[in-house]
Amino acid sequence: MMRLPLSLAALALSSAALAQPVPEIFRGADLALGERLFKESKCAECHARKVGGDGSAIYRPAGRINTPGALRGMVDYCSTELNLGLFPEEVTAVAAVLQRDHYHFGATPAPAAPPKK
Ligand code: HEC
Repeated sequence: MMRLPLSLAALALSSAALAQPVPEIFRGADLALGERLFKESKCAECHARKVGGDGSAIYRPAGRINTPGALRGMVDYCSTELNLGLFPEEVTAVAAVLQRDHYHFGATPAPAAPPKK
């Protein structure tokens, strides 16, 4: 996976060029960092003990974790439980990898209720 350049204009262009839409909160996430942290944190090992295979059957995009925000929240929760001591941007990076490989949420989050006037 190529690293996205840091210029905002270039970032917007690269995101648009990706085949898969990237939800707002995962734009610019460091996917290489996320992959490394995911391996180091043994996330898949534990999931595999529960669901078998490579553990990826635990990811259910149509289940409880059905928005980008819920996905990031779950990674935050798991890493806090595990005392991984991840920085917020590291949590986002790990969640962005799961988004890319398993959840594939669309670019726009579920629409919030329009504000009442
Ligand atoms: C000690 C075991 C264990 C470890 C380590 C672990 N998890 Fe989990 N994880 C679980 C279990 C069990 C569930 C299922 C919870 C449920 O659905 O009731 C789960 C569920 C999840 C889900 C939600 C799946 C879905 O779609 O419902 C995500 C996302 C997740 N884990 C991410 C991670 C990440 C990222 C890491 C590593 C930083 C990690 N987990 C490490 C045990 C673990």
